[in-house]
Amino acid sequence: MKGLILSGGKGTRLRPLTYTSAKQLVPVANKPVLFFGIESIVAAGITEIGIVVGETKDEIRAAVGDGSDFGARVTYIEQDQPRGLAHAVLIAEDFIGDDSFVMYLGDNLIAGGITGLVEEFRELGPNAEILLAHVPNPQQFGVAEVTEDGRVKRLVEKPKEPESDLALVGVYMFDHHIFDSVKRIEPSARGELEITDAIQDLIDRGLTVHPHVVKGWWKDTGKLEDMLEANRIVLDTLDNGHGVEIPEGSRVEGRVSLGQGVELIDSLVRGPVVIGAGTRLDHAFVGPYTSIGKRCVLERCELENSIVLNDCEIRDIPLRIDGSLIGRGARIVKTDFKPKAYRFMLGDNSEVGIT
Ligand code: TTP
Repeated sequence: MKGLILSGGKGTRLRPLTYTSAKQLVPVANKPVLFFGIESIVAAGITEIGIVVGETKDEIRAAVGDGSDFGARVTYIEQDQPRGLAHAVLIAEDFIGDDSFVMYLGDNLIAGGITGLVEEFRELGPNAEILLAHVPNPQQFGVAEVTEDGRVKRLVEKPKEPESDLALVGVYMFDHHIFDSVKRIEPSARGELEITDAIQDLIDRGLTVHPHVVKGWWKDTGKLEDMLEANRIVLDTLDNGHGVEIPEGSRVEGRVSLGQGVELIDSLVRGPVVIGAGTRLDHAFVGPYTSIGKRCVLERCELENSIVLNDCEIRDIPLRIDGSLIGRGARIVKTDFKPKAYRFMLGDNSEVGIT
């Protein structure tokens, strides 16, 4: 069995971060989202992994390498344009050969990994297995209709009147029949080869598609709110103890992970929080559910429920920063220039919320 991770795409919903960086490399609890996927595939005993890459291929390659750090062997498959999930399958045919494979969307996170799913697929031997989750808003997802004897009857993309609340989660298992299906379907109205259409084609050809309902949480980290929620969920699994001596004048409460050389000066860190190596906190408060990257400087500011990437500088901010995703090397600082005013230099599609 092989693994196929989709790590191309445009990531429009996470702009401006995705103008300069792959969305799959945005960190959750200071680890790129993509790494969680690779690790869960390897944990399921699959070490031969293809990664579909697009414009951000160099960055993904630099982060993942040949896969040996994960105990895997990684092959990169270049997709010229994000032409859809089924298109990614189509171009992976040479890599997959006659094997069965698990397809994993590189921006998804699933509690407890995928080992159970892979084992069930091996045991039951259907032609495909799809992962489903009960959601409160099925109108926004691909939705599955399941028969009473537990087979998938129909898949509908973003139905106005959904027949069930079972949404497709970003992990799928296929045998070689999927290659015929991705060749038989036509691009959808949005111009993409849709995986839901390909799976519907399997069903229409009388092949078995088995549903597997996830019990724990799962997250598609495509949007800011989802990214922050994934960060909260993963930080909640942090171990106790930071193993670092806290200097006088500073306090660390709850589950906090401090990287090498983190400097605390008259600061309070209240977990769950991770702080990357070489970051300095000076008269700062870092509150629950915050991940801060490496080499950041936080002075006289308060921050919580946020993700801050490497090399940021935040100084002298009078109000607490909350629910924020701050890209690499960003500076949020108070200036003494006249006139007294807000001064911004923001990338395209940036967002600032001011109270
Ligand atoms: P999506 O989140 O559906 O698409 P996107 O990355 O273009 O994001 P947005 O909607 O914000 O513009 O993609 C799910 C995953 O699959 C993601 O990791 C990107 C990847 N992908 C490909 O590798 N190739 C593709 O053709 C598409 C559509 C997605």
